[in-house]
Parts: sequence; C-alpha cells; structure tokens
Amino acid sequence: MRADNRGTTGGRRSPAGQPARPAQPAREAAYDEDDDWGGEPGERDSLLDVPGGVRLQKVLAAAGVGSRRSCEELIGAGRVEVDGEVVRRFGARVDPDHQIIRVDGKRIPARADLVYLALNKPPGVVSTMSDDRGRRTIADLIADHGERLFHVGRLDFETEGLILLTNDGELAHRLAHPRYGVLKTYLAEVPGPLRRDLGRRLTTGVELDDGTVVADRFRVVDQAGARAMVELTLHEGRKHVVRRMLAEVGHPVSRLVRTQVGPISLGSLRPAASRRLTTAEVGELYAAVGM
Ligand code: URA
Repeated sequence: MRADNRGTTGGRRSPAGQPARPAQPAREAAYDEDDDWGGEPGERDSLLDVPGGVRLQKVLAAAGVGSRRSCEELIGAGRVEVDGEVVRRFGARVDPDHQIIRVDGKRIPARADLVYLALNKPPGVVSTMSDDRGRRTIADLIADHGERLFHVGRLDFETEGLILLTNDGELAHRLAHPRYGVLKTYLAEVPGPLRRDLGRRLTTGVELDDGTVVADRFRVVDQAGARAMVELTLHEGRKHVVRRMLAEVGHPVSRLVRTQVGPISLGSLRPAASRRLTTAEVGELYAAVGM
C-alpha cells in the first residue's frame, strides 16, 4: 500500500527546489520532486498554485491514490477537486497540509504526517495509552508506529475487536461524537435459547438507568442450545452499553467483539495486530462524518 510508505523515502530536495523546511520533514520526504512535468507556467490556475506547493499528481500518488501516471489521468478527466474546485491541469501546485483534495468526491488523506490505524484489541487490554495499574494498554500494541495517536472511543477491558487510532484530531473527535451517530457493530455471545421477541425489544428500545438505548440493527448469527451468537449495530457509545442492554433483556454477554466502526471492518485482522487504513477507507471515514 503506497500510503504506508509515505515519509520513508529519502528526500533529496523539497518541493519546487525550496530550501528544506525543518518543521516538515515528512512532507519533504513524501513529495520529493523530480522534473518530469512538461506543463507551461502560464497554463496553471493562479487560484490554486500555492507558492512552494506540491504538484497535485504527486500529492495524489503519495496518498496512495495510484501511480503518478494514473493520477494524472484522474486529474485530466476532471475527477479531482481542490477546495471544492475541479482542477484539470496536473501542474497545479497545492498545499496538502491545508487544502482539501477529493477524488470522485471522496476526500483523500493528503497530509503525509497523518496516520490512520485499525487495531484488533484482544481481551485483557485497557483502551488507554497508559495505565497507572501497569496493565497492558493499546499503546503497547501499536508501539511500532511511533506517532502519538488518539484512540477513537474505547472498548471494555474484556471486550475485543476493532479500535481506530489516528493523529487526525478532527476526524477522531467527529468519529467519537454522538452528533455524527457513527454506527458500530458488535458480535455478542449470550446464553440461549433466545427469547422470541429479542430483536423487537432491542430495536424498539431498552430502558437503562441512564436512558433508553435502541439498536439500529439486530440479527441472530447462530443459535445452538445453551449458546447463541447475536449481532447488534448501535449508533451510540455509552459505557458498557451492549453488555447492559443484553443483560437487561435476559441475555448477559459472555464474549463481546466489535466488528465494525462506520465503514471500517475488523475483517481478518489477528488479535493484537494493527494495520494502516487504505486511502479509500480514510475517504469513507471522512465522508461518514461530513469532512
Ligand atoms: N458496549 C459494551 O458493553 N462494551 C464495549 O466495550 C463496547 C460497547
């Protein structure tokens, strides 16, 4: 995945041959220039040519959209927007740190310093970056990534599954904010047999001591005698909410796994493993919270 390599290639000189800016080493490395563009300066859109900026096709390629050549084709086809304006000339110089770049309407993660991870939290790990009781934390699981990341929401100590981490503060804030109602899906192991009206109870609302909670979706995944597996999707993230709601309807949870956050799936990620989100996944996350 190309986005994974951003910041790891050796920078020979900074964009447009300007002296290196020490505050932005990752950007210089990511957008290291060569002289392969044949456009005329007069052809450039003065509105979008940011002095000292980076050529649009290089920003797209570094963000993992595709090869430089395929990014040029996207630009030529009018599929790329910068700050809401379609840009067809691939000589345009842009500021990936401050301008919003979209391909086919989906925002791309243009800033080379931003990291987006999916982690499969195992049970027995605290969803914090440090723990004064010395327990294993999610920081221990992503130590290799180096960057200072925020986790988007939390899972209980014994709950497993998907946690997103990023240093994109605005995205993390929106994903966790109830206003954006990002859907989260959980697989829960509960004692069977399941009561017949379980789905209806969960989707019409269960009274908890801090208010009613409503499941957006419910389905039975498996049911075999004394054990059942159910899947619930909720748009809120109150503490222990899935465990409390299932206990309230007579099915206390023995195992809980979060399998999806918004458009991102846990998939086959191994317990304790993490992976970088793809450019398309980050675009979908932005779209899910109106960014
Ligand atoms: N609901 C719970 O009960 N636990 C979690 O970790 C997340 C949602």
